[in-house]
Amino acid sequence: MKTQIWILGGTGRSGRTIAAHLAQRGLTAVLVGRDAHRLHAAAERTDSETLQVPSLATAVSEIGRQRPAVVINTIGPFTTTAPEVVHACRAVGSHYLDLANDVAALSAAFEMHDAATRAGHTLVTGAGFGVTATESVVVKLCEGRPAPLRVRVDMVPSMAMEEGTAGEALIGTLLGGLAGRRITDGHLAPARILSDAVRLTLPDGSRVTTASMPLGELLAAHRASGARHVLSASSETPASPLIRAMMPAVSTLMRWERLRSFTTRRLARVRVKAKERPREHSWGHAVATWADGETREGWLRLGDAQAYTGAVAAEITSRLLAGQGRPGAYTPAALFGSALAESCGAEYLLPRPGGRGHASDSDPTR
Ligand SMILES: NC(=O)c1ccc[n+]([C@@H]2O[C@H](COP(=O)([O-])OP(=O)(O)OC[C@H]3O[C@@H](n4cnc5c(N)ncnc54)[C@H](OP(=O)(O)O)[C@@H]3O)[C@@H](O)[C@H]2O)c1
Repeated sequence: MKTQIWILGGTGRSGRTIAAHLAQRGLTAVLVGRDAHRLHAAAERTDSETLQVPSLATAVSEIGRQRPAVVINTIGPFTTTAPEVVHACRAVGSHYLDLANDVAALSAAFEMHDAATRAGHTLVTGAGFGVTATESVVVKLCEGRPAPLRVRVDMVPSMAMEEGTAGEALIGTLLGGLAGRRITDGHLAPARILSDAVRLTLPDGSRVTTASMPLGELLAAHRASGARHVLSASSETPASPLIRAMMPAVSTLMRWERLRSFTTRRLARVRVKAKERPREHSWGHAVATWADGETREGWLRLGDAQAYTGAVAAEITSRLLAGQGRPGAYTPAALFGSALAESCGAEYLLPRPGGRGHASDSDPTR
C-alpha cells in the first residue's frame, strides 16, 4: 500500500480546493483526471502530482494496481460513481471519501457499512460543507442527551463562484436531490420540496429564508440525533413563490431518467459568471426539540463554503492517514465527533441561557 492520496476529478473546483488544503497540511495529492492540459494547470497551482486516465473505469483499475492509501472521489453524481470506486478501494484496503450530498448516495454508502467493516477500510461520505456543517451542530446539541423528538437543520452556504460552466457533476447531483423527503416517525417519507419556509435571523443579525431541501443533511441529522421527525432545509432555494409552486411538478418530471439526463447535459453547459461571496460567513444551523418541550438551537460559523469543503476533505484524509479512522461507513462528524468542524476552521455559536445573544465555544462565560 502506497501512502498516496488520489483525488478523482482532480481538475474540478472541489478537487483543486482539496489539493490546496492538503498542501497546507504538508500532504501532496495525485490529481486524477481525463484532460492532460487541465491536469497540468491544476497541478501547477496546487503543487500536486498527476495521473491522466481516459475514463473513470481506468481510474478504478489503477486503484487496484497502485493501491493508494486514500481515494477522494469528487465526481458526482455519486450514486453513479461511488459504487465502483468504493468496490475497488475495499478490494485493496484503500480508505475512501466523497463529497456526496444527496439522500440516495448517502443511503447507498451506509448500506456498505458491514462490507467496509469486514474489509477493514473506512468509507466517509458527505465530506463537504453541507453534511458536515449541519451534522456537526446536531452532534453538538445532542452530546450526552437522549434522542430528541424533532430536529430541523438549515444550511446557509456563501461562496465565491469562478467563471465557467456548472458541469455535469454538480448539476447531476442537484437534480438528483429534487425528490422531496423528510423523516417522519423514524422513516424516510415523501414530502413537498421547498415547503416549511422559515425566515432565520443569523447570529450576525442578517436575515435569510430557508425552505425544505432534502439533501444528504437529512439522513446525517437523523443518524446523529435519533430524532423521530427530521427536516432539512437550505437557503439555496428559489425565492420566487412561482418557482416554489412549480417545484413539485419539476421534481416529478426529473424522476424520468431520460429527461433528467437530457436536462443535466443542457444545464451543465450553461456558463456561470464569476461572483463574489454574497456574505462573509456560511452557516450550519440546527434546532432540536425534546419530548419534554426543551428546545436547543446551535450554529456553526465558517467562511467560504467551497473552501470549507476543501478543509473538511483534507482534514479527514490526514486523520485517516494517521490511522485515526475506524472500519465502516460514516459521515464526518459521526466518525470524528463535533470537534472535527472546529479543526477545519469553524466555530460553534450556541445561544446563551436566557436567550440573550450567542456564546461561542471560546467564550469564557460558557
Ligand atoms: N457535500 C458538499 O457540501 C459538496 C461541496 C462541493 C461539491 N460537492 C459535490 O462535488 C461534486 C463536484 O463538484 P465540483 O464543483 O468540484 O464539480 P466540477 O468543478 O465540475 O468538477 C468535477 C470533476 O469531475 C470530473 N468528471 C466529471 N464527469 C466525469 C466522468 N464522467 N468521468 C471522469 N471524470 C469526470 C471533471 O473532470 P474533467 O476535467 O475530466 O471533465 C472534473 O474534474 C458535485 O457532485 C458536487 O455536488 C459537494
